[in-house]
Amino acid sequence: MKISFSELDLEQLTQISQRVTDEKSGEELIDICQRISLSVPNQEFPLIYAGVLLARNNQLHNAIKVLRLCQKSAFGKTLAEYLSETQRFSKQVKVFTNAKPYDAWMQTEIYQSIRAAVLDMVKRFSIQNPPHSVDKPTIIDIGPGNGVLTVEIVKQLQQVYPLRGIHLILIEPSEEMMAVAIQHCHESIPMPVQITPLCNCTLQALTIKEQQALQEHQPIWFINASLSLHHVPTELKRLNLKMLNSLSTSLLITEIDDNLGELEDASPELIYTMSDITDRFIQDVLNTTSVSVPDKKSCIDSFFLADAITVLKNIQELRVEHWMSNSQWIDVAKLAGFQVVKTTPIVSSIPFFSLELKSQPASDELNVSL
Ligand SMILES: C[S@@+](CC[C@H](N)C(=O)[O-])C[C@H]1O[C@@H](n2cnc3c(N)ncnc32)[C@H](O)[C@@H]1O
Repeated sequence: MKISFSELDLEQLTQISQRVTDEKSGEELIDICQRISLSVPNQEFPLIYAGVLLARNNQLHNAIKVLRLCQKSAFGKTLAEYLSETQRFSKQVKVFTNAKPYDAWMQTEIYQSIRAAVLDMVKRFSIQNPPHSVDKPTIIDIGPGNGVLTVEIVKQLQQVYPLRGIHLILIEPSEEMMAVAIQHCHESIPMPVQITPLCNCTLQALTIKEQQALQEHQPIWFINASLSLHHVPTELKRLNLKMLNSLSTSLLITEIDDNLGELEDASPELIYTMSDITDRFIQDVLNTTSVSVPDKKSCIDSFFLADAITVLKNIQELRVEHWMSNSQWIDVAKLAGFQVVKTTPIVSSIPFFSLELKSQPASDELNVSL
């Protein structure tokens, strides 16, 4: 979702940022926001832009005042409430320390489209790539979250092969998520399940010793990484994909198709992209009738707004969103020695994609510069 502002738009937005820097009154800012008109689809963007810049500048009172004027933007309205309740433009919780907000998001329309795409990719992959043995093949799931999707993946595999067991290696930094995932896998997979958990650690923090221990589990049928690799900082992605390539010949990735890395901190483009995508996530949660009002709020506050704030405020040490576009993922995967089997866009109000990768044959690998 690339946005480009015309010169006139940027000139008008500069009037807003200058007034925020000069700490002008809320009324003056509101007046400008209401007078200017941009060529972008979201006509409330001046209010959002001003609100975010004010919040970054610790002018919370004015930020709330400006954002409360949003009539349509769920992002603007919920951020105003969040700031008024917490009196801080800061992440209140570490995302993924609690499984509940994620349980709520899994019921939304966007997540259901992603889930269907992951299962589709797993089905297609498994039909074309049988396991070495149906006795207890090993798969790795990176960032299994609450384990619900992991269970569905295993059930999908069971529909294709008469598996007599499964060995799951789960790599998950959140202790609580891991505990929920392990329990769910044991309770819901109708066959013997062996679980090797690598907890409290991110993919990029795996030690050499842990990586060597993983090698000992080969052959590894495939590695699934659904909505987890964007948490790996961009500069480490190639190295981590290369490590995954040494563990298994197949890697199934599902990711958001957007690039934040190219956008400058506090730029109109970054604020537009992040607020627009967060708005779509929030709208989707609000429209999900099977989720209770308190669960919707906890999902929005501790998941979507919390993540958006780390990006909008550029809190590097807390930032967990390092999105890349589909084509950037493909470039990085090729540099890590993979070739693309298939990539498929996922139809939803936010662009996601699935990507099936397999190791390049050894002869081609010589040509890969690493
Ligand atoms: C958005 S959830 C995805 C859960 C599940 N795979 C799914 O698709 O529904 C991301 C998961 O990745 C985990 N995670 C976060 N950073 C990670 C990292 N650097 N390496 C591995 N997992 C990570 C989170 O704790 C969380 O469980």
